[in-house]
Amino acid sequence: MRILSIESSCDETAAAVVEDGRKILSSVVATQISEHRLYGGVVPEIASRRHCEAINGVVEQALMDASAGLCDIDAIAVTYAPGLIGALLVGVNFAKGLALATGKPLIPVHHLRSHIASNYPQHTELEPPFLCLVVSGGHSHIVEVKDYTDMKVIGRTRDDAAGEAFDKAARSMGMPYPGGIFLDKAAENGDPQSFTLPHPRVDGSAYDYSFSGLKTAVINQIHNASQKGIELPTDDLAASFRKAVVDSLTENFFRAAEDLGYKKLVLAGGVSANRLLRRRVQDYCDKKGYECYYPPLSLCGDNAAMVGSQGYYEFLSGHTAGSDLNARPTLSIEQSYLSN
Ligand code: KG4
Ligand code: ZN
Repeated sequence: MRILSIESSCDETAAAVVEDGRKILSSVVATQISEHRLYGGVVPEIASRRHCEAINGVVEQALMDASAGLCDIDAIAVTYAPGLIGALLVGVNFAKGLALATGKPLIPVHHLRSHIASNYPQHTELEPPFLCLVVSGGHSHIVEVKDYTDMKVIGRTRDDAAGEAFDKAARSMGMPYPGGIFLDKAAENGDPQSFTLPHPRVDGSAYDYSFSGLKTAVINQIHNASQKGIELPTDDLAASFRKAVVDSLTENFFRAAEDLGYKKLVLAGGVSANRLLRRRVQDYCDKKGYECYYPPLSLCGDNAAMVGSQGYYEFLSGHTAGSDLNARPTLSIEQSYLSN
């Protein structure tokens, strides 16, 4: 089964053609990052307008790269939640138009479910059940993936997402938006022991996260130093911050795996590109004899190949939509799309 998939939940307009959920025939991503960088973050109105301009060309390119016409496509999948509402609406309406014009089924896909599915094309042996740490710019979840479309969130952030914390800390270190990747690079050359930062804990919950205190601590250290005319060594600060975030992320993730008996650990979301996070989870799994999976770097950030991959399993579960499909700015990953 060949799925044409579309993603427009934030600042990337993307389209792909994916066969049977595992084989990527094409994947095109048009990013708007350079424009949003001027403002230090995503400007929703600009994002919607750029999606509008880009979506036609991106979809045409994805079909061309796959050497396919619409007649070779069996279904249309689209990210419908969660995300920036004006951005999502562009992809959803485009997909609805295509489905209506071609008579093909329309498959709504949850953005975080698709991040999890970004592992499937490269790791063809990977099947649920497994435990997944989904870490992106907007979410930090520990998810029990019981089946392809059956998920349970057992841990979540109470405030900032891990990616958001990386971006805000990076910004205070003078790095461009989105700073997570720059902070990660700088941290490779720094000493993670050089700064003492708080170790975040959430009272009353074994698996929940909190990153805002950690973020504020690093911002305060930078402000206090600059008031005294001192410039802190960025590489060391980045390494200390990255270690604190990764310590927190992995501590709860590994505890959940032990408590619940999962021996297959998976990373997903933009922050799964983080070098230390990948090393830490790989080392732990090697030591324990567990299976460890993370997406290739090309599929860590937002893309449509992962939407086509998850879309296949949503289709097999009967999750298709009619032309009344709407976009949703928030939606639990646990909730499957049920048409009326
Ligand atoms: O999944 P994603 O592309 O978009 C959302 O769905 O939010 O995640 C983007 C986030 C940004 O916060 C970005 O800074 C972060 O992922 N990120 C990283 C790295 N690469 C991207 N954070 C830490 N280390 C990285 N190497
Ligand atoms: Zn994302």
